[in-house]
Amino acid sequence: MKCQFAIALCGVAGAIILLLTCSAPPDGKTVFIESGCARCHGINGSGSAQAPRLEDLQSKWTPESLEAFLIDPPAYAKDNARLQAYLKKYATPMPKLEIAPTRRKVLVQYLLREKREATTDERK
Ligand code: HEC
Repeated sequence: MKCQFAIALCGVAGAIILLLTCSAPPDGKTVFIESGCARCHGINGSGSAQAPRLEDLQSKWTPESLEAFLIDPPAYAKDNARLQAYLKKYATPMPKLEIAPTRRKVLVQYLLREKREATTDERK
């Protein structure tokens, strides 16, 4: 009987540990990769060139504006001259992607942290 109780207790502890690790938000880079952003965008040495490179966004976005853009890129781009200019250059506009709010927050933090590395300077 005692042993069964101990096994049950282990099960509960295991479930709690599992729940904690599963519900912790992943880091921004993981969200970037898992959301398929690198299919179009390049960021410091990796990713594609179907869309503007995503370094040095600090000078263009605040956490609030970047979040608003990511919620609905086509709607945001409508009133933004800089994004409109990009749309003439790139074939596929930025799509609306479903990203959970907690994941979007860490993604924004990651994007606003990335600075152009010295070695990638020549790839303007
Ligand atoms: C199908 C290609 C495609 C995908 C996938 C994509 N984007 Fe974009 N993105 C674009 C294009 C094209 C633009 C340029 C303007 C526009 O569409 O609004 C852009 C613009 C941006 C900008 C503004 C860049 C600047 O210079 O200010 C950011 C930030 C951005 N994307 C982040 C992301 C993130 C984060 C993801 C993944 C969640 C993502 N994009 C997925 C094509 C894409």
